[in-house]
Parts: sequence; C-alpha cells; structure tokens
Amino acid sequence: MFIFVLLLGGLALWQAGTAIYHLWFSPLAKFPGPKLAASTLLYEFYYEVICSGQYTRRIEKMHEQYGPIVRISPYEVHIKDADFCVEAFSPVKKLDKYGWWYRVFGGPGATVSTEHHDVHRSRRATFKNLLSPVAVRGFVPTILEKVKQAGLIMSHHAQMGRPINMSNLYRCIAADTVSAYALPASLNLLDSEDLGEEFQSGLRLFFEAATTMRFLGFLQPLMMMMPDIIFKRLLSDPAKSLIKLIRTIQRPSDMEKSRSCLIECIKTNKYREQGDFRERLLQEAEQFIVAGTETTGYALSVTTFYILQNADIQKKLRQELVDAQISLNEDDLDITVLQNLPYLSAIITEGLRFAHGVGSRLPRVNKTGDVQYRQWRIPAGVPVSMTSRLHHEDPQLFPEPLTFRPDRWLQPDSKQLRKYLSPFGLGSRICPGMHLAFSEIYIAIAYIFTHFNVENNGTTKEDLISVHDLGAPFPKRDSKGLQVTLQLR
Ligand code: HEM
Repeated sequence: MFIFVLLLGGLALWQAGTAIYHLWFSPLAKFPGPKLAASTLLYEFYYEVICSGQYTRRIEKMHEQYGPIVRISPYEVHIKDADFCVEAFSPVKKLDKYGWWYRVFGGPGATVSTEHHDVHRSRRATFKNLLSPVAVRGFVPTILEKVKQAGLIMSHHAQMGRPINMSNLYRCIAADTVSAYALPASLNLLDSEDLGEEFQSGLRLFFEAATTMRFLGFLQPLMMMMPDIIFKRLLSDPAKSLIKLIRTIQRPSDMEKSRSCLIECIKTNKYREQGDFRERLLQEAEQFIVAGTETTGYALSVTTFYILQNADIQKKLRQELVDAQISLNEDDLDITVLQNLPYLSAIITEGLRFAHGVGSRLPRVNKTGDVQYRQWRIPAGVPVSMTSRLHHEDPQLFPEPLTFRPDRWLQPDSKQLRKYLSPFGLGSRICPGMHLAFSEIYIAIAYIFTHFNVENNGTTKEDLISVHDLGAPFPKRDSKGLQVTLQLR
C-alpha cells in the first residue's frame, strides 16, 4: 500500500513538474490555446481515447475561441488556414511525419508510418509505378469484375425485396479490389455471408486500438510478447484470413512464384533496404488493405447517400450516364470517358469533400528550419498539423458547406476551389492510392446508377456522418450503415 501511495505521489509530482515546464518554459509557452491542453497529453487522451476520436471536433472549437493557430498539446500546434497549409505542406518541402502520431499505423517498415523524409522518399518510390494512372488503367477490368459481383448481390436483394447495407457492400468492393491489386489473391469479402460485417468491426477495432496505443505505447512490447494461442483467440475470422493471406506471401517459395505486384516492387526496388524483407512486405501489405478499404468504402457510402437525398441530382446523373452511352463491359470500358463526365465528376468531388479522407489531423515536422505563420515563429522540430475536414467545412471557402452541391464544382472559378480540397492529403505524403480509389468510385457509382433504381431505406445523416475521427472517419457505433432498397432497371 505504502509503495502504491509513493508511486502515485511520484507520478503526481512528475506531472506537476512537466506541466510547469510546458506552461512557462517551453518554446511554445506563448502560443494561444487551452492551458490544460498545453500542460499535459492527458487532455488529448481524454478526447481521443475516452471519448473515442473526438479531438478533431475539440480542435475545431479551439480555433473558434483562439484563432487560426492553436497549441493543441504540450508539443504540437495546429493551424486552420487553408492557404497557409497548401503552401506549408507543399511537395517541395522536406517534412518529416510526427513519429509519435504515426507509429501506431502499419509498423516501422510501412511507408505510411515512416517518419523521416528521405527514408520515406525511397520507400515511396517502391510503388510509384505500381499505383500510377497507367498501371491502374490496366486494372480496370478487375475493378469492374468486383463491382459486377456486388451487382449480383444487389440484384438478389432486389428480387427478394430485401434492403441491403451499401456501406458494407462498398467496403467489400474496396477491400477485395485493393487486395487483388497488391497481394497474390483477393480477400474475397464479397463472398462472405455477412458481407464483410465482421471485417468492418475488426477494422474499427484496429483504428480504436491504434488511437489508444499512441498514448500507451509502453504496452506495445507486452502485446508483442503475447503467446500466439491467446492472440489468435482475440482475432475475428476475417482478421485471421487477412493474416493468412499476407503470410502466404511471406514464404520464400511463394514469393518466387507469386504474381503479387507489391512483392515484385519491393524485391526489385533499387532503393532496397537492409533488413528483413518479409517483415517489411507484411507491413506494406497491411498498410495497403487498411488505407484502401475504409477510406474508399466511406467515400462511396457518403456520395451515394447524398445522391439519394436529392431527386434532382439523381435525375441529372442518370441523364448524363444515359446520354454518354458508357459501355460497362470489362473488355472495352474506357475509364477516361467516365472520368470526363462533368456531372458525375462534380458529384464525386463533392462526395470526397463530405467524406474528408482521413478525418483526423495530419501532423508534419520541419527539422531544417523554423516555420513562420503570421507573427508566430514555430521552432524547427515542432509538429505542425492541419485537418482537411476543417477546410472542407469552412463556409468562407465553401459557402453552405453542409449542403451537398455538385454544382459548386461546375462554376468558372471552380479550379481555384480545388486547391482547398484535400481528401487525399497534401505534399509528398499525399495518398498514392488515389488513382485506384478514383477508378473504384467512378465505376461503382456509374454501374449502380445505370443498373438499379435505388431508394434510401430510412438512413439518416446521423448514420453516416463521422463522429469518431480515428485516423479514418467512423459514424456512431450503433449506425446501421447506408440501408437502401433496390429495383433492377
Ligand atoms: C477515397 C479513398 C482514399 C482516401 C480518401 C485516402 C486518403 C489518404 C490520405 C489523406 C493519406 C495521407 C495520410 C497522411 O498524410 O498521413 C493517404 C495515404 C496513403 N494511402 Fe490513401 N486514401 C484512399 C485510398 C487509398 C487506396 C485505394 C490505397 C491503396 C492502393 C491507399 C494507400 C495509401 C498509402 C499507401 C498511403 C501512405 C502514403 C505515404 O505515406 O506516402 N489509399 N491516403
């Protein structure tokens, strides 16, 4: 008991000491923001872990109170100024990622969590060709095949008169596509009886756990020591199949004969790294599935929801698709024709504005020099973050930001507006999977609205709006997803 009291007392003293330093002696002491946030990480812990992904919303409120620059933690400042962020996060800037923030995503071998700019550059070069627009174009028949497979499931529901959860279906399309693209085989969630429901719960759990582990990093080594038998019991079936799928590409014999693009890329990369190739491959593969599933699925759900909310938008979209006489056959689908349809493109752009990308902030560190923002000089090495969502919902940039208005992207000055849209992030760390994601979204929306009459079956905004920003956007926990009824056209 005495030891416990002693430990607790020591901890309190240590907290008080560091709080005094952060509030009065830190180089960030004079920056505006709540004193509690500046004195301890427990403030962020409360909003991120206890309230599950609420810090983005809290940061938004801080900006309303303190202005465009806010100290959001003892170590980090956040800026809400779209023009400044576009400039500060530009691809020519040699910025590091904030290691503390990113270490929980993908492991140290994954590109997404790579802290240092130069290491990141060489890793990123690994799959430059893999994810190029030309390479993705070659994959269009497979994307269409996945969408058609989803179409069969939809037809079945239409014939039975049963509603379908489009959020799950879209997530399955996204997971099956990205796994077929990067790994030796597809995850085939579209074949699962629960339409990926369990996989989705697993993904959400992953993001929740990652957010918690950011603060409780000292537990990570303990988890690594957990015996396999206990670890396996904790995993859901889809998580097990993902691990099994990834492990098949870990065996040297499979690596030789496998046709996985990702394996080829890492094997033949001229910047090939020292160290365990298989471990790195595992981490990159995991990153592809996680980064390419929830984001694409969510963007598709949100876009479909808003199309269904407005009969006029739906009518204009259908008319454009009919007039264009697009062939949705694997052999001759030309994705560029779809991508040149102005109204479909405007809908998809507006959908991405509403879906936000990752939802949470993106922190970067400039180690080579101070960052000047207005009268504020931010010392080199201090993480500076921005949040796309706060720009996307800024009425100064997007009038009536919470109204879904594809037309805003069809105005003579829309090109200027595009610079404020950053669902795929900004700068040298911008999403490399965006061409694949765009192809999936264009094909899925065009296919579904060409082949089905779709009606919302009681889904409200509250079922879709992200209220938990956990590195990916998640709606309320008891959301039933986007429920629709269908009729074959
Ligand atoms: C609508 C769909 C998608 C959205 C909105 C999206 C959004 C983003 C954003 C915002 C980032 C930057 C994160 C940061 O700066 O920390 C990112 C990174 C990344 N995304 Fe995506 N993504 C999407 C689809 C995909 C797909 C389909 C793939 C896989 C092919 C993918 C693979 C990646 C990877 C590997 C990174 C890390 C890049 C790096 O650190 O250099 N994403 N994504």
